[in-house]
Amino acid sequence: MPRPSTPRRQRPTKTWGSRFRQATHPLAEAYTLSLPIDRRLWREEIAASIAHARMLGRQRIIPRADASAIVRGLREIQREMTDGRFPWREELEDVHTNVEARLREKIGAAAGRLHTARSRNDQVATDLRLYAKGACDRAVAAVRALQRALLALAEANRQLAMPGYTHLQRAQPVLLAHHLLAYLEMLERDIDRFANARRRADVLPLGSGALAGVPYPIDREAVAHELGFSRISDNSIDAVSDRDFAVDFIAAAALCMTHLSRLAEEMVLWSSAEFGFLRLPEAFATGSSIMPQKRNPDVAELARARTGRVYGQLLSILTTLKALPLAYNRDLQEDKRAFFEAEDTLLETLAVFAAMVPELRFDVERARRAATADYALATDLADYLVRRGLPFRRAHEVVGRLVQYAEERGKSFSQLTLAEYRRFSPLFSEEVTKLDLTSALRARDAPGGTAPRQVAAALLRWRRRLALTEGRASARRSRATG
Ligand code: ARG
Repeated sequence: MPRPSTPRRQRPTKTWGSRFRQATHPLAEAYTLSLPIDRRLWREEIAASIAHARMLGRQRIIPRADASAIVRGLREIQREMTDGRFPWREELEDVHTNVEARLREKIGAAAGRLHTARSRNDQVATDLRLYAKGACDRAVAAVRALQRALLALAEANRQLAMPGYTHLQRAQPVLLAHHLLAYLEMLERDIDRFANARRRADVLPLGSGALAGVPYPIDREAVAHELGFSRISDNSIDAVSDRDFAVDFIAAAALCMTHLSRLAEEMVLWSSAEFGFLRLPEAFATGSSIMPQKRNPDVAELARARTGRVYGQLLSILTTLKALPLAYNRDLQEDKRAFFEAEDTLLETLAVFAAMVPELRFDVERARRAATADYALATDLADYLVRRGLPFRRAHEVVGRLVQYAEERGKSFSQLTLAEYRRFSPLFSEEVTKLDLTSALRARDAPGGTAPRQVAAALLRWRRRLALTEGRASARRSRATG
């Protein structure tokens, strides 16, 4: 292959080309190119440019006729992009220069006035902040959809008892619904984090120029208002160099993926023959090319693995920012790669989970049997003795010896006679033989516990909360379309 050689003169396509005698080396050009990644910002780029041009016209910073021509041209470009007709040109580096060059083709020299009082540095920060606000909304909607699916699953299986685990050892019986609601809680905190990320992204950088501000009588508040930003940035140097808001989003995505990964892990465990609580829907499982009997939990496994990719993006953007001098540096271009990959991985994972969860089927009998096996009611026996006056530590000792005794004889608690119980404590009476799964569950009736009464109330609370958010979301949708 012939080595690419440096052309002698800079191509006229570069907006900054005039002070250069040499053209960019093709390898350098390929290396610095950001178009394949940032073309995704085209909606934000057009919106921000239109708001900027209008403001320049209103403020008489550029002739009003030129401002109108620019806005008209930008709208045409917007249509080309919407229809997929826009002639993207890689040699133009990024989305910003692509739009500007196309504008020149459409309206001629007036296009050159659009870049008055702005820089690609405040422009790209503006585009990404606009995009981040939308990404937070999309993430919240996707998390809500999964919450709804998990809630419906919990409601459909509200009686189902299973072992709760600590150290992955059977610990105490719980209701599956209670266990699933734990994920709704985690996801609710994720939503809160996305809402916070959105709030911090909601600041307009445009008007900061390259880094020092601009020497024109611009109206930043009007631009902020038109673009739907709540406020303008206070410091131009910070505005062009800050990417905290992107870190906030990716960090929220990373933690949300952590939660999904824990759920994925439980799906993998529960669908194994060893647990056997869960039957994976065929539409979300795969077979083995060699072992015909297999039904593998690949979706859950891949979700578990892709969590690591989002962590990688978080580490990537943190490392990009670390020790970066103020203000803008080209390093910042890599923020978008990290942001978009984190967003895509998160949304794909949430979507496939929301589709899979309604199809999950549980083996009620097997889960119930496992719930009381292996002396899972031992704590209940100790609590029984406590209610009859024994200090808990003493009760724990007594039941510990009882477990040892039963285990040696291969008996479960229910197979012991009252006389055998009484060998360990005279406080045991006839009622002890009535301790069972139902009484164990019912007993945990303090707020936040797994008692059916508590869980029913929690299900209702969640039903109401999600119905409210559904109402708000559909109101927002009809406002947006109306
Ligand atoms: N593609 C660049 C980025 O994403 C746009 C800003 C370029 N600014 C500059 N001074 N080279 O960061």
